[in-house]
Amino acid sequence: MSNKTFYITTPIYYPSGNPHIGHCYTTVACDSIARYKRMQGYDVMFLTGTDEHGQKIEEKAAEQGVTPQQYVDGIVKIFKNLWSYMNISYDRYIRTTDDYHVEAVQKIFKALYDKGYIYKGEYTGKYCTPCESFWTDSQLDENGCCPECHREVKEAKEESYFFKMSPFAERIEKLLLETDYLRPKTRAQELVNNFIKPGLEDLCVSRTTFKWGIPVTFDEKHVVYVWIDALNNYITALGYENSAHSDFDKFWPADVHMVAKDIMRFHAIIWPAMLMALDLPLPKHLAVHGWITFNGQKMSKSLGNVVDPFVLGERYGADAIRYHILREMALGSDSSFSNKIMIDRINSDLANDLGNLVSRTVAMVIKYFDGTLPADRETDELDNELISMAENLRTNVDKYIDETQLNNALAEIFKVISRANKYIDETAPWVLAKDEAKKARLATVLYNLLESIRISTTLLSCFMPTTMPKVWEQIGADESLITYENAGKFGVLPANVTVHKGEVLFPRLDIDKETEELNAILLKNAPKSEDADKANLTPIAEMIKIDDFGKVDLRVAEVKACEKVPKAKKLLCLQLDDGFGTRQVVSGIAKWYAPEDLIGKKIIVVANLAPAKLCGVESNGMIVAADVGEDARVIFVDKDIPNGSKLR
Ligand code: MSP
Repeated sequence: MSNKTFYITTPIYYPSGNPHIGHCYTTVACDSIARYKRMQGYDVMFLTGTDEHGQKIEEKAAEQGVTPQQYVDGIVKIFKNLWSYMNISYDRYIRTTDDYHVEAVQKIFKALYDKGYIYKGEYTGKYCTPCESFWTDSQLDENGCCPECHREVKEAKEESYFFKMSPFAERIEKLLLETDYLRPKTRAQELVNNFIKPGLEDLCVSRTTFKWGIPVTFDEKHVVYVWIDALNNYITALGYENSAHSDFDKFWPADVHMVAKDIMRFHAIIWPAMLMALDLPLPKHLAVHGWITFNGQKMSKSLGNVVDPFVLGERYGADAIRYHILREMALGSDSSFSNKIMIDRINSDLANDLGNLVSRTVAMVIKYFDGTLPADRETDELDNELISMAENLRTNVDKYIDETQLNNALAEIFKVISRANKYIDETAPWVLAKDEAKKARLATVLYNLLESIRISTTLLSCFMPTTMPKVWEQIGADESLITYENAGKFGVLPANVTVHKGEVLFPRLDIDKETEELNAILLKNAPKSEDADKANLTPIAEMIKIDDFGKVDLRVAEVKACEKVPKAKKLLCLQLDDGFGTRQVVSGIAKWYAPEDLIGKKIIVVANLAPAKLCGVESNGMIVAADVGEDARVIFVDKDIPNGSKLR
């Protein structure tokens, strides 16, 4: 094994619900880099795991009537299944409930206390239970809610231990602004302005209000609170302060920690501070990516918008999902997940560009040469561009891997694949095949195509590890030829290579059928909120186009008068000011509302509904109400919205 080492980590995930596509991004990205580095000859340590303590886990377990340990054991199994399903080649999996981690965190906590970096104090602040985070007033969002999940926070006060941050402020500022620790670097100034310039606040590192955590050895009513427990996983997993592992000297400092933007602050400021306090070297890079969003929000279990990676993998294969999420996200930006974009991408890049290139090339070698190329060659200037692009590909991909820009690495590989497809059109092998004198030229063209495929799929195999061996089988590339070294050279396949017809790599998908079926699955699987139970929801209706919605003219109107319709128990007759004049509407809501409940209120009316007579009384429109189980509730709107305002 080489003496070059490479250590890469994902965050450790909270097993507070099933994993979703959002969790897959970092893990798939780190896996692809780890595979690439292994191919380059590095001795790689790729670490992932689960962050299993905290109040949220304690609460979830209680809800289900199991112990927190039983609860996390169940979910960790699902995470591990997903990683094996997605072909994640982690070298080590850490659980923060592992004995060795618990023991090491206790020693680290005590060491920081003995050095004077941890002290006892009292915490008063705003606490967000779902995020397990305290926030200062200035950090809350515009509604005074949690800046991360936007839910309510509550005032909390308790005896806590604190980690002193101020001694490290200057060094951290330098780390962020003057080194290339943070990627993308553009985020460094924002961190410095928001957290360092106003004065680094000490960090609350223990809690007394819940039990499911690592006990502080010298003060047992406290448990270690989140970040000292979580962040240190990166070193305890290597054997720091424990004897379960012994690779700390070999792999520390880490080459890359990869995280999403919501935990950037903890990794960019708090983690370096902790390492400085422990007198340990700092990691080399922190790569921060954006979120996979869905309908404009971070995809998350609690927002009920998760896309199940098992469902997608089952339909399209893990490789297609891996490719799609990596190709879509530029480092540092969010990427919005859409079934349609995913299917389009599978069709255009994988089925058309890559799949067709392989199947056409192999089919032509079979058709024109019975599957084995003759060794005669006849080159042409036309070949030069493709060959030089293929030869240079490895250098370009290396650069993007080292900069953790995986979307760009993939784009480079697909440039060569597209160029090879264009080369087929330019050289027109079917024309060459008609002329016996052009056999050597035809063989050269097909060989160049096979070589371009070998080079691009060797590099691509780090991103799509399941499918590429099938390509090598088809193009007659013995696996011994699939090396990093050979990926930088043209002319590696034997001159008289034999190809084999194989299965279609990525079948073309019917976009309408797929999106319809995926939407149906998503709706069926969407977690129900407590509200959903109360409302006894009916399924969401069939999709409509925006133009269909545009036909319905909804207006705000004020109830000026209202009375019961004689002899019709269910009906009320309302006189509305709809901004244009008075409009009479009859509504079947008498069971739930007395006329005086409505007079003076503003409601929504369907203003362009054809007039109808109800029990002989004319109705011009319909007022909008919600079905709540068996009941109906009128939707009231703010008083300051003018009558006649159109809804959109
Ligand atoms: N346990 C902490 C991390 C501790 S690391 C020392 C945690 N866990 S988490 O499960 O909530 O999130 C883990 C990672 O997944 C974070 O980087 C988080 O941002 C990322 N993602 C969760 N949802 C995501 C998306 N929708 N999109 C991209 N990444 C997402 O935070």
